[in-house]
Amino acid sequence: MTPDQSQLALEKRHAAAAALRWVRDGMLLSLGTGSTSAAFINLLGEAVQAGKLRVQGTATSLASENLARQLGIPLVEPCRGLRFDLAVDGADELDGQLRLIKGGGGALLREKLLETASDYLLVIVDSTKLVPQLGRFPLPLEVVPFALPWVMDAVEKLGGAPQVRMAHTGSDQLYRSDQNNLLVDCYFNVISDPEHLMHQLQNIPGIVEQGLFLGLAKAALIANGEEVQVIRPGQAPTPASEFADLP
Ligand code: 5RP
Repeated sequence: MTPDQSQLALEKRHAAAAALRWVRDGMLLSLGTGSTSAAFINLLGEAVQAGKLRVQGTATSLASENLARQLGIPLVEPCRGLRFDLAVDGADELDGQLRLIKGGGGALLREKLLETASDYLLVIVDSTKLVPQLGRFPLPLEVVPFALPWVMDAVEKLGGAPQVRMAHTGSDQLYRSDQNNLLVDCYFNVISDPEHLMHQLQNIPGIVEQGLFLGLAKAALIANGEEVQVIRPGQAPTPASEFADLP
């Protein structure tokens, strides 16, 4: 049975709380985007306000940056040499090898940038996100507006029915990323070779970033009801409570 929205919200919070246990004083954090990341930022903010944690962070979207600022989490601007001890972020889909689809919240470019500059990417998700094969969730692309027609043609040839994202359902306004680019959601249904597809997408001019995150995540925390399991590539799922530190 698929969990309802309130159960999913609880699962997201459980995954977020499990991640917070591994945040240490002095860490520089990359803060993710989306509802699961918001749950994490809220819990982090509570810990900072209570004086239990001293950390700094950089956010992967303006929305997460605003939330972190409201909660009093000290923020660091991008600068040369900046690297993060830990990135905590959600995902739209992940498989057992921790290959991810991200960008459902439109923040894939900043997410890719900050997570590539992180020593450890920890993914936090509810029970619906783990899939045997990627592709049911439409793969997001961030696209330079001028390039849109050619990108649509190229993606269609690769088998992913492209759809330009609108600002919201029923709107006639196009969605704009934090960089003022467009988002194209590509319906592949099944992505049988994510590495090959990523390579093909990277060769299409006008795609600023694509939503396959391969080889970046070190571990995922997957909440199922109140239980949170750690998933790592090639290893059996293990209860998160068994790890005092990052797995
Ligand atoms: C934003 C993302 C999010 O991590 C992804 O959409 C998951 O969101 P949620 O935690 O709300 O399910 O990639 O660009």
